[in-house]
Amino acid sequence: DKGGWSSFMAKEVSEEPEAVANTVLGRVQDGQIVIPELDGLDGLFQGVSRVIVLACGTAYYAGLVGKYAIEQWARIPVDVELAHEFRYRDPIVGPETLVVSISQSGETMDTLMAVKEAARLGAKTLSICNTQGATIPRESDAIVYTHAGPEVAVASTKAFVAQITALYLLALHVGRVRGALSAEVAGAAIAELEALPEKIRWILENEQERIEQLSRWMSDTRSVLFLGRHVGYPIALEGALKLKELSYIHAEGFAAGELKHGPIALIEPGQPVFVMVPSPRQGATLHAKVISNIEEIRARGARVIAVAEEGDAAVLPFADEVLRVPLAAPLFEPILAVVPLHIFAMGLATAKGLDVDQPRNLAKSVTVE
Ligand code: BG6
Repeated sequence: DKGGWSSFMAKEVSEEPEAVANTVLGRVQDGQIVIPELDGLDGLFQGVSRVIVLACGTAYYAGLVGKYAIEQWARIPVDVELAHEFRYRDPIVGPETLVVSISQSGETMDTLMAVKEAARLGAKTLSICNTQGATIPRESDAIVYTHAGPEVAVASTKAFVAQITALYLLALHVGRVRGALSAEVAGAAIAELEALPEKIRWILENEQERIEQLSRWMSDTRSVLFLGRHVGYPIALEGALKLKELSYIHAEGFAAGELKHGPIALIEPGQPVFVMVPSPRQGATLHAKVISNIEEIRARGARVIAVAEEGDAAVLPFADEVLRVPLAAPLFEPILAVVPLHIFAMGLATAKGLDVDQPRNLAKSVTVE
């Protein structure tokens, strides 16, 4: 039931605040992370010297974001791999490896087979999943459920923000269990997590209409590029994936620092480029570097659409459009910055008269390899 919305996707994007809130719900007690599903499983995180995150599609990009949080809070090195690539390269894993799989459906065959292979090689397996009782969680040693609610539209939106949220909860939990993280830092992160739903709601209430208008203006666009740095980089990749899935136009995401090593050759007058601008508080250097990337592409005629923190005045002279997101601590920016990109992709596909719930050639859950 679309509940009065024009599409399941429109409904699901509107549910992004609840997807985050419900994933946090019941997992914070007295300022501490408590994940009931992991009760009695602390041993799973002892002796782990490496984490490998496995997933496909949008879930893979959630994993790329999760890497920053796990490394920062749990101080364990993390590799993020496409599940179908992992399985066929004779991976080096063993009991000191924790394999974290991410899957909305819990049925993606590529991810399932990779998890089975990891388990066969002796790795510990934990699955992040949105579907109770699905196959991947059943094959795993531990489960952390996302509580995004059923997702019907083929392209994932609310499950994506819930996946990042679950990865953050996991990172904080593991950091605490292993003594790598102070209660104070964990407490500040929990407060940030709890503040996210209201901030996503702010974007939906204050920016959605303007973004939809922008997507209508751009409905004839043939190609869109997305740039980001640090946690903004996986969001650039997700923004590009969502746009190609829904609107069938060429879209590519790049690490902003990589621009001068190749992608800048693509910039010609009128080329639209979304730029994820990190908060100036993330470190002046990172912010300044992205601003200078914007200057480089602007000088070559790019049309810059910046996704930037509300109040970041430095970006204004350089961008053709600024999509605003509320202030958040640096690691939490991706959960906000992705929302305008979801709205944009949905808006552009709608403007082209396409079915956003059922894009051509795609299936919600791919149960073949
Ligand atoms: C794809 C879907 O086939 O599978 C994507 O179209 C999704 O939206 C990907 O991200 C992974 O699915 P899941 O269920 O494993 O998260």
